[in-house]
Amino acid sequence: MPIKKYVLPVAGLGTRFLPATKAIPKEMLPIVDKPLIQYVVEEAVEAGATEIILVTHPSKRALEDHFDINVELERTLEKKGKTQLLERVRTILPENIRVAAVRQHEPLGLGHAVLCAKELVGNEPFGVILPDVLIHHPQRGCMAQMMKVYQQLGHSIIAVEPVAHDQVDKYGIVSLEAGGEEGLRQLSGIVEKPTPENAPSNLSVVGRYILPPRVMQLLEQTTPGSGGEIQLTDAIAALIQEEPVYAYTFEGTSYDCGNKQGFLRANIDYGLRDPETREGLLQQMSVQSHSPDR
Ligand code: G1P
Repeated sequence: MPIKKYVLPVAGLGTRFLPATKAIPKEMLPIVDKPLIQYVVEEAVEAGATEIILVTHPSKRALEDHFDINVELERTLEKKGKTQLLERVRTILPENIRVAAVRQHEPLGLGHAVLCAKELVGNEPFGVILPDVLIHHPQRGCMAQMMKVYQQLGHSIIAVEPVAHDQVDKYGIVSLEAGGEEGLRQLSGIVEKPTPENAPSNLSVVGRYILPPRVMQLLEQTTPGSGGEIQLTDAIAALIQEEPVYAYTFEGTSYDCGNKQGFLRANIDYGLRDPETREGLLQQMSVQSHSPDR
């Protein structure tokens, strides 16, 4: 059975991008011409999602509006004969996909955000995607790769990738059981943002998860951990004691758009992949082969 429900935690205030995010959600920042949130919703839909659950904040209405119909805009585009744009606006969300929103009133951590979706998720396995991280693959998105593995395996899966050793304190870090397939190994442990000295490996959690409903009960019992927040990582550490969880090394390129460098890098790479912007961007870049003035 494909996973139908995907939880997208979007309640964070995006302080790293202030002042850009003073009045708009960070997930609405564009990579070329689409907001971050649209890329991850597309990734979930490609993997078979039919219900997107946004765990959001009252100040972030723009996210819900993005997936709603904008009658006035559609009429204007229609009148002006801008059919291609009209098509792009109309097809942001395929017809069979439902977007539901639940509010996280207090910033108590990622684990708490996922727990806010408990009622909407119900008693079935679900996906989680963190919209800060974009993953590009020319043929098959990360979540679709994970779904393929999940359908053979039937156990929880977490996407991982290696990071530089001095970066481990920014991520959830996993340790693995010996043996198993290359790129798909059972987790023996997982810890949130360890110091480089205490890190069990350099394999980081990139923000793509397939989890069982049991994790919601474990989250209810999870006490604040790293940063004083309720961590999804800690509930997964408890889950490992009960059933197998697998780490999957995905194919593709990840962009951590939660920081400025990653966000800029994503804009350049996606701009170079887009036939509409590629040539012009390449020309601009070769004209200015020296660094621009500071
Ligand atoms: C969250 C998770 C962390 C994961 C990271 C990926 O951290 O808690 O385990 O590695 O996302 O981006 P955050 O970036 O919200 O601090």
